Amino acid sequence: MDIVPVEWIKNQNDKNTREKNCKVNILTEDFAYIRNFHRQIPNYKITPLKTLANLACHLNLGGIWVKDEGYRFRLGSFKATGGTFAIFKFIVEKIGADENFHYCDLFKEEVRNKINNIVFATATDGNHGQGVAWAARKLGCNSVVYVHKLTSKPRIDTIKENGAKVVIVDGNYDDAVRQCNEDAKKNGWEIISDTAWEGYNKVPKWVIQGYSTLFMEIQEQFNAQGVIKPTHVFLQAGVGSLAVAGCEFYLKLFGKDRPKLIIVEPDRADCIFQSAKSNSKNGTSVSGDLNTKMAGLACGDPNPIAWESIRYLADAFIKVPDYVAGCGMRILGLPLNGDEEVISGESGAVTIGALKFIMHRPELKELREHLELDNKSEVLLINTERNTDPIHYREVVWEGAISVPKKYRLYRS
Ligand SMILES: Cc1ncc(COP(=O)(O)O)c(C=O)c1O
Repeated sequence: MDIVPVEWIKNQNDKNTREKNCKVNILTEDFAYIRNFHRQIPNYKITPLKTLANLACHLNLGGIWVKDEGYRFRLGSFKATGGTFAIFKFIVEKIGADENFHYCDLFKEEVRNKINNIVFATATDGNHGQGVAWAARKLGCNSVVYVHKLTSKPRIDTIKENGAKVVIVDGNYDDAVRQCNEDAKKNGWEIISDTAWEGYNKVPKWVIQGYSTLFMEIQEQFNAQGVIKPTHVFLQAGVGSLAVAGCEFYLKLFGKDRPKLIIVEPDRADCIFQSAKSNSKNGTSVSGDLNTKMAGLACGDPNPIAWESIRYLADAFIKVPDYVAGCGMRILGLPLNGDEEVISGESGAVTIGALKFIMHRPELKELREHLELDNKSEVLLINTERNTDPIHYREVVWEGAISVPKKYRLYRS
């Protein structure tokens, strides 16, 4: 039986409960301070905010905007903003520096001497590990990156090229997190994780704060186009760290007037969706192989500090099968005439795929109405990665792998 393109639920909490509990728990750091840090990294550039005006018309929307993180620091993913800022904050704290300590100070001899024996460790679905390895190498430090058994060779190779030792764990992403934690304790390594657990949340908070730079850039780019803010933001989630950065960013800037916030996940790794369904304080994990093509989103344990905020901030939770992400890659890679092209992997393209089905499918009318998606909507999406697995990209975009089942196609010959 074909799997439906979009399953969704509303936020289970009533309006009053939500507003009472909507708080900025993580993005407490000054956005300008974080942005200044990133700006000092050589080759820092604002990544493009692309407009897909013709597609917006086609889907009966006011505008579709795609922040293209494929151009981030030549690493090709937003993840680099989090890992770099977390390592910076870690060092500031370790050497007891104050707020006048800048990126360039990291390279002074007296600082180097204090940090060059540090080994940074992390578990990853690919992109976060690459970012940590890249940042560690810039500082002259070693790094060890744990990946799960389904991680593709091109992703592993890129992490190695950035100087890390790679450990492949016979399990899923969450097993890699646990193994990394155990080995780091034994070896005295410093963990730079993008997810938290009991007794460990300071570093993941810094990682999430680091993501605020991309939302700051988006705000500037919107303002330059005469748009005050998007009306809708679709955020893909693995453990939920990127999603919570987006949710808290718009809460901090716009309070009750924030855009509608929609979380999108793979149906095979839907820990945020299940957490929303149970509406439990600590979230709900999912287990198994988490065998989705959306490699960056294959996570079974929600980040507890992220869930704490997303629980009240998100307006809807969506889960989709792989073919929705494949469809998204093709929509972005082969745009309507006049729209800008975006090259993405499945994790980056899943939100446009979901949006296309939401606007087309008759059975999703209630979701469209719940979100008030119409021709006045300015929808923001984030392409979180470029084609980090190029051979697989061609298989999907050139050769039509993970195709939409006939039953759910709009164009049928
Ligand atoms: C490309 C890509 N998109 C989205 C995400 C999701 O981020 P998070 O795990 O913070 O929810 C990841 C995480 O690795 C990723 O690599």
